[in-house]
Amino acid sequence: MKTLKDLFEHQLKDLYSAEKQLIDALPKVVSNAGDSKLKKAFEVHLEETKAQKKRLQDICEELDISPTGETCKAMKGLISETESFIEEVKDAEVMDAGLVAGAQRIEHYEISGYGTAVRYAKELGYNNIASKLQESLDEEYDANHNLNKLAESRLNRKAVN
Ligand SMILES: [Fe+2]
Repeated sequence: MKTLKDLFEHQLKDLYSAEKQLIDALPKVVSNAGDSKLKKAFEVHLEETKAQKKRLQDICEELDISPTGETCKAMKGLISETESFIEEVKDAEVMDAGLVAGAQRIEHYEISGYGTAVRYAKELGYNNIASKLQESLDEEYDANHNLNKLAESRLNRKAVN
């Protein structure tokens, strides 16, 4: 890696791998969520994630690079933590609270990744690509905000009982 463009391309591949892994992992999260609003939120985000993966594919096509070839190890770790949690937890309310916590960790990771990618795209003069990445960044912010609201409104309170 020699240039900012190399680093940018690396970031795109990393994000692509992250979204791809999340698409495979989210159905299990959906099926383990007990609260109907939470289940719905995960379902919506699964569809958004598919669109985000497609967006990254389109961007890579535009740059004439392949989106594959990298494995995002951080996302792998975050997903593996959530999967172990699902195996260990016995209580439905605690399950929902923990799923929200895991998903918010993932959202924060993605927010940081897309934030960096948007900045690099702007710096490299790829304004069209920057706005596409910004769309995904906004979706990640919204998903995180939505999870926050769900957690604050009742999930955490219910888990105390
Ligand atoms: Fe995402």
